[in-house]
Amino acid sequence: MEKLYNYKVSLGKNSYSIFIGKDILRSIKTFIPNYKNYSKIILITDTNIYKKNSELLNLELNKKLNFKTIILPDGEKTKSFKYLQILIEKILMLNLDRDSLLICFGGGVLGDLVALASSLILRGIDFVQVPSTLLSQVDSSVGGKTGINSKYGKNLIGTFKQPKSVIISTDILKTLDKREIVSGYAEILKYSFIKDKAFFNWLRENGEKVISLDTKSCIYAIKKSCSIKSKIVSIDEKEKGIREILNFGHTFGHAIESVAKFSNKIKHGESIFIGMFLAIKFSIFLNLCKKSVLENYVLHLRKIGIPFKLKDYHISISAKKFLNHMKFDKKVKNGKIKLILIKDIGRPVRFFLDDEKLLSNFLKNEL
Ligand SMILES: NC(=O)c1ccc[n+]([C@@H]2O[C@H](COP(=O)([O-])OP(=O)(O)OC[C@H]3O[C@@H](n4cnc5c(N)ncnc54)[C@H](O)[C@@H]3O)[C@@H](O)[C@H]2O)c1
Repeated sequence: MEKLYNYKVSLGKNSYSIFIGKDILRSIKTFIPNYKNYSKIILITDTNIYKKNSELLNLELNKKLNFKTIILPDGEKTKSFKYLQILIEKILMLNLDRDSLLICFGGGVLGDLVALASSLILRGIDFVQVPSTLLSQVDSSVGGKTGINSKYGKNLIGTFKQPKSVIISTDILKTLDKREIVSGYAEILKYSFIKDKAFFNWLRENGEKVISLDTKSCIYAIKKSCSIKSKIVSIDEKEKGIREILNFGHTFGHAIESVAKFSNKIKHGESIFIGMFLAIKFSIFLNLCKKSVLENYVLHLRKIGIPFKLKDYHISISAKKFLNHMKFDKKVKNGKIKLILIKDIGRPVRFFLDDEKLLSNFLKNEL
């Protein structure tokens, strides 16, 4: 068998394994704990993925697992009440019971939606994540956050529900658009900034190889990201403490996505590149951080040709509107915006904004 990596997310009775390898879907049964005990298996994917992977799904995987397939439209707009209802009703129509299993075969959008559905149907049924984008392989499939968006903001409706396992096969990424691969790189870069300077130095040398899907580099970056995330989640499942550092760049980023109305104008990861840029700049503005951190960030992204400014995505937002959207993020406590800022690469810091004017003045200059 080809090389297989296994990380454990340790959460007592909710513990599970993340399996990582090049072409491990061929042995999918091995990675679903007690798969024989499930009375019914339902696989959920989206139109786009289905079109590009129908042979894998219909010929290879369905032969092994004998599942029913549900196909939803692709795109961030599917993470909504409307599609949550559609999905749940489609699942219920298949007469499932508490011993049924859902398999999510998709990116972060489907992952968040299917996980939420699995936590609601019959008060909770099992599900497995087969993440199919780089972003979902390094981030959203691990950690058990589920969610849908609302007109008031991103991921405001959701639960915590851990999967039974996460099966990461890098071969799936071959059919993914370059723009999606780059978007996933944002979360990889985030891990290096919040936790691991040596990893950032590795990315400086190898980031281009990750984006061009060189197998060895890609597996290394996924392993490293999953290992950082699983350790953090194992300590703080419900985001009461250290898990908050995973939101570095996200409070700024979510505001951008909300202003863009979750459209294709900007992908989640793309907004996180801008969000991290603004978070580092704001850290410098507050004298928390050295300028060299920003220089390193900018140099790295320029070297590999990734845009990180709003104007690069043809988006303009007033400081007032930006601030309003930031206030609707979940990271607001007692009316104060909570930000993850940075002191140095690998040294994040939690910051409560006492004086909103500081951020408002900063944004007026930046936007
Ligand atoms: N739950 C969490 O902890 C968490 C963490 C980070 C991000 N997220 C969420 O993840 C979402 C973004 O996820 P994403 O970037 O994976 O986007 P996505 O799920 O929308 O997928 C991007 C696009 O790629 C297509 N696609 C997926 N896999 C493919 C494949 N193998 N081949 C060809 N096309 C494929 C999809 O059809 C879609 O059009 C956001 O909603 C974000 O909020 C959640």
